[in-house]
Amino acid sequence: MAKVKFDRVTVKYGDHTVIKDYSLEVQAGEILGIVGPSGCGKTTVVRSLGGFLNPDEGEIYIDDELVYSKKRRVNRSPEQRRLGIVFQDYAVWPHLSVWDNVAYPLKKRRAAKDEIAKKVKHALEQVRMTGYEKHMPAQLSGGQQQRVAIARALTSSNDLVIMDEPITNLDAKLREGMLEEIRAMQRRLKTTIIYITHDQEAALQLCDRVIIMQQDGQICQIGTDEEIIEHPANRFVFSFIGVSNFIPVTEDQGRYYLWKKDPALCYASQAPQGYLAGKKNVMGIRPMDIVFDDASPIKAVITQDVFLGSLFNYFVRLNDVELRVQRSTLDSLDGREYHEGDTVGLRFLNEKYYDEEEAV
Ligand SMILES: Nc1ncnc2c1ncn2[C@@H]1O[C@H](COP(=O)(O)OP(=O)(O)O)[C@@H](O)[C@H]1O
Ligand SMILES: [Mg+2]
Repeated sequence: MAKVKFDRVTVKYGDHTVIKDYSLEVQAGEILGIVGPSGCGKTTVVRSLGGFLNPDEGEIYIDDELVYSKKRRVNRSPEQRRLGIVFQDYAVWPHLSVWDNVAYPLKKRRAAKDEIAKKVKHALEQVRMTGYEKHMPAQLSGGQQQRVAIARALTSSNDLVIMDEPITNLDAKLREGMLEEIRAMQRRLKTTIIYITHDQEAALQLCDRVIIMQQDGQICQIGTDEEIIEHPANRFVFSFIGVSNFIPVTEDQGRYYLWKKDPALCYASQAPQGYLAGKKNVMGIRPMDIVFDDASPIKAVITQDVFLGSLFNYFVRLNDVELRVQRSTLDSLDGREYHEGDTVGLRFLNEKYYDEEEAV
């Protein structure tokens, strides 16, 4: 297992700066997720680390060894960096058999024949593709092809494997299975894995820590799944990792109102936890954290109710805005039913406050 460090790396395409002063440390043996919307610079990070792109500024280290610094004129070749990469689109070479695909990095490195045989066998075992050595990629399913690509990455390096959207092209059911296998394989081999995806759910499920990137290539949060879910660093993270409602909040003489000063919209008579004094606040609230409570003075009307199996999904209208509310089937064991047209009281739990003027 290897460590990785990016120290203030900047990459520009012409006058378009994709990542700026990008710093991160990946610990040996962890699965680190890099998540962000399409176009935010994730693949740029991968290509910089792999040695396929030369950043304009900053330094990159693999296991304390400097592998790239423009200033210090260091630029190790992709082979010298000894890492395995699984790409989304060109997974395997179509003209090579499974065995030859997986053996390729070793042959390129001029490894001895028996070492090649041993490592290819081991890698194919890890991805459960033993027995397919002579198959050509066209004879394999998409999921099997991606397994071969992962096996090939493993023969490049047992220490560090980067996966750039490796399963985005697979169907949902296969994706779920592959995530579990990647996790199990990582536990066995203790390989450091950097897992890139735009799918925040997959990342939070798979990774030890996740980096959330914003559209402009900035890192807005690094943390465990729990830290990110419980304490989203900003409004972007809050909205990126799940369904959300945002409601502007107004304070007047110690009373707190949704949207505007109107007695029917007053929801608190003391500063709510997390409220940002002196700022224009916007409340972020998850559908599960809006609770129906007859005692609440905030009254809304249900405009839609849909039963989704494990939960009820509602839209409620309040101050001419529709909010999303969810209630788990367990909560409804009290026998109380809510339907379209009903007036309900709303109470807010675990709400977060963000500065409305903060750039997102
Ligand atoms: N070779 C290139 N030339 C110019 N712009 C590029 C090139 N590759 C990527 N970009 C731009 O850099 C930004 C980040 O791209 P990329 O790293 O591929 O994002 P992601 O992998 O997060 O979708 C995008 O705006 C993209 O258009
Ligand atoms: Mg990409």
